Amino acid sequence: MNEIKITSKFNIYNNNSELSEQENELLKKAEEARENSYAPYSNFRVGASLLLDNGKIIKGNNQENAAYPSGMCAERVAIWNAASQYPKAKILKIFISASSTTHAVDKPVSPCGSCRQTIAEYEFKQAKDIEIFFTGETGKIIKANSLKDLLPLAFDNSLL
Ligand code: THU
Repeated sequence: MNEIKITSKFNIYNNNSELSEQENELLKKAEEARENSYAPYSNFRVGASLLLDNGKIIKGNNQENAAYPSGMCAERVAIWNAASQYPKAKILKIFISASSTTHAVDKPVSPCGSCRQTIAEYEFKQAKDIEIFFTGETGKIIKANSLKDLLPLAFDNSLL
């Protein structure tokens, strides 16, 4: 029996003043998207923005449904929006911002497991790491340099 140890690395920003101008623009787009989310059941609003290698910024937000499992997370709405419009473009960065109409969200909100699996699909497909930034309405911003830091030993099509 061998043991392996997998480590992840994250950058923690105290607030948006530590981000670059372009990263601030992406954060603003994620916040704009968040404000248009449809979240009447959870009151939890999530917005995502993607920077593509063709320079486009694509947005998405969570879309809930009275039949709860039929709803969709912001990250996947944004990714599939991008993939459907620009199937050849690579995703360089993803920004995620969350807020609630019932309480202050002051901690970084990390992507759920299904969204991590979806990001994994595109990171493998494009053979290029995707930077993932996530935050709340206020507070720190966490950056992962790759989905691999959030989902080690991910399932991918080489295992099929
Ligand atoms: N949600 C997202 O949009 N992204 C995530 O990564 C986590 C959860 C949404 C789904 C649902 O509309 C609400 O947040 C509460 O779970």
